[in-house]
Amino acid sequence: MEQIATFRVPPKLITGVGAVGSVCDEIRELGGSKVLVVTDPGVAACPPLAMLTEALDAGGVDYAVFDQVIPEPPMEQPPQCLELAQSEGADLLLGLGGGSSMDVAKVTAFLMTNGGNPSDYFGNELVAKPGVPTILMPTTAGTASEVTNVAILKDRGAKLKEGIVTQHNYCKVGILDPRLTLSVPTDVSAATGMDALIHAIECYISVKATDMTDTFALKAISLCAGNLRRVCEDGSDLAARTKMQQGCLIGGISFANAGVGGVHALSYPLGGAYDVPHGVANSLMMLPVLRFNAPACAERMADIGVAMGLDVAQAPAKEGADAALDALAELVSDIGIPPRLRDVGVAREDLEAMADSAMTVTRLLANNPRPLSREDALALYEEVY
Ligand SMILES: NC(=O)c1ccc[n+]([C@@H]2O[C@H](COP(=O)([O-])OP(=O)(O)OC[C@H]3O[C@@H](n4cnc5c(N)ncnc54)[C@H](O)[C@@H]3O)[C@@H](O)[C@H]2O)c1
Ligand SMILES: [Fe+2]
Repeated sequence: MEQIATFRVPPKLITGVGAVGSVCDEIRELGGSKVLVVTDPGVAACPPLAMLTEALDAGGVDYAVFDQVIPEPPMEQPPQCLELAQSEGADLLLGLGGGSSMDVAKVTAFLMTNGGNPSDYFGNELVAKPGVPTILMPTTAGTASEVTNVAILKDRGAKLKEGIVTQHNYCKVGILDPRLTLSVPTDVSAATGMDALIHAIECYISVKATDMTDTFALKAISLCAGNLRRVCEDGSDLAARTKMQQGCLIGGISFANAGVGGVHALSYPLGGAYDVPHGVANSLMMLPVLRFNAPACAERMADIGVAMGLDVAQAPAKEGADAALDALAELVSDIGIPPRLRDVGVAREDLEAMADSAMTVTRLLANNPRPLSREDALALYEEVY
């Protein structure tokens, strides 16, 4: 019998080509009189920011722009953004970008009403009051931060990514317009797309999975696995971009409720110590961790193979699981993500410290279908070195 589970999603998600056009109505409905757009220099130089400001100008909305988010943002960033939000008198924050920009917007929004520093809130439900309202507009199909209660910041000192998990991180409105993802470069499409696929896979095998989250996870696996190669081949394919965005969103809804596990936990030290992009770090750790997990969840891994379109529905579970792992290996190779830790500059002598660091990500390790010890983590890092 299923355990008692809570299922949460943001109150409103607007999707589809042209969705950006709804932004002014949403700002008015939320009572926003001055908007701070939070983005990074890469996105600011691309069509998404121009598309948004055009809509804001046309609707007569007053706004300012913070365009200094650093990809994989350190914890010093939200206070910088807060300074501008306060000096501009912003009462609504709009995160435009990938997970990095959306997460900085989320944290800044609750700092505005709660005070303190981001590190005061690392962990679970430590934010007392709701922040100012947020609208999130993803420009990558990867993190699904627009539907999660998480914000991730880098602690450079501890060389680790830290999570702030709070109900106050949910946005008021998510606006997902696939046109915003058309300019994503191929390597970023590959990395972020793998992140989206891994969310769906990890939450399908999570110990917290329910029938509800399974429904979303399987659909997301099928959409992401079916369209990722295409968006990497031809980023201008709007139909494939739309399907990837939907897959990411649907998988995100699942992972926000069932949680991710060992792949994400072991990837955190890579992002924290080596600035490896989140999606690349996850792709590197995906195969070793899933192979380690497979004996504990062979049937579920076989279901993943079926969702990926493999003809294994009638095969024994182990055979189906092996076929899914082979297909995932082929996908990672086809879209050009480096296969080894040494390819992204990791030093062999750091593996022990990385294993120690991964063990601190207890929030995610608790969801893994097979208990994963420090020795296991070290062996998995060595396997993929
Ligand atoms: N909050 C969550 O639920 C959650 C979940 C997973 C990961 N994360 C975090 O999100 C961050 C990673 O986010 P990400 O993978 O989306 O990447 P990102 O936000 O770091 O962006 C990566 C790069 O892509 C560029 N880019 C983004 N959209 C573009 C577009 N449309 N056109 C051209 N360039 C574009 C950016 O300028 C940047 O250089 C990490 O810090 C990670 O830890 C958060
Ligand atoms: Fe992720």
